[in-house]
Amino acid sequence: MEIKSATFIVSSSKLSQCPDTTRPEYAFIGRSNVGKSSLINMLTGVKGLAKTSGQPGKTQLINHFLVNKEWHIVDLPGYGYARSAKTTREAWRKMINDYLLHREQLVNIFVLVDSRLKPQPIDLDFINFLGANGMPMSIVFTKTDKESQRVVSGNVELLRAALMESWEELPPMFLTSAQTGRGRDELLGYIEQINKSLS
Ligand code: GTP
Ligand code: MG
Repeated sequence: MEIKSATFIVSSSKLSQCPDTTRPEYAFIGRSNVGKSSLINMLTGVKGLAKTSGQPGKTQLINHFLVNKEWHIVDLPGYGYARSAKTTREAWRKMINDYLLHREQLVNIFVLVDSRLKPQPIDLDFINFLGANGMPMSIVFTKTDKESQRVVSGNVELLRAALMESWEELPPMFLTSAQTGRGRDELLGYIEQINKSLS
């Protein structure tokens, strides 16, 4: 898919504030600092479209971006940021769960996991939560430029094995790097396929 335009639409603090449209929507979620905003900038080819930071906890709201005047990308705040207060984490959980479970336009959730790490309990819990709720999801490994490919493939296999303990069918998986653009064509092709199936 060619990206012709990508623009910021709105930041919302709750589901009821999200844009009232019928456009298909793709959400990006994962641990704080995993690279959600960077991946969105890499996919759209617009530097600085989604705000990134070396400090975890940068994205705090539900951010909608319009791509090709056709579909939405949604940048979500990260989970598992240990330094945020318990009340903040609880508010996060409520906002995100409400959005994920009730947003009708949501057609796929990309769960980002750091390719440098072995499967993290918090990621497995989140993936299992989505699976248990029958949410359409894909797994996106980020930062593949930062580790040897041997380590990356090992971590992919470990996650597969962990998910196979609970699920018969594995979600699609993508290997990406916001640094090198790895996985861009695959992800955009995947989104294009889903968009086509909807029209
Ligand atoms: P929050 O909004 O705080 O939850 O973080 P986020 O998941 O949006 O992460 P963000 O995109 O802000 O990136 C966090 C840090 O990781 C930044 O310093 C990025 O430059 C870096 N980063 C993200 N993706 C990559 C990647 O593919 N390769 C490398 N080398 N660095 C990356
Ligand atoms: Mg972010």
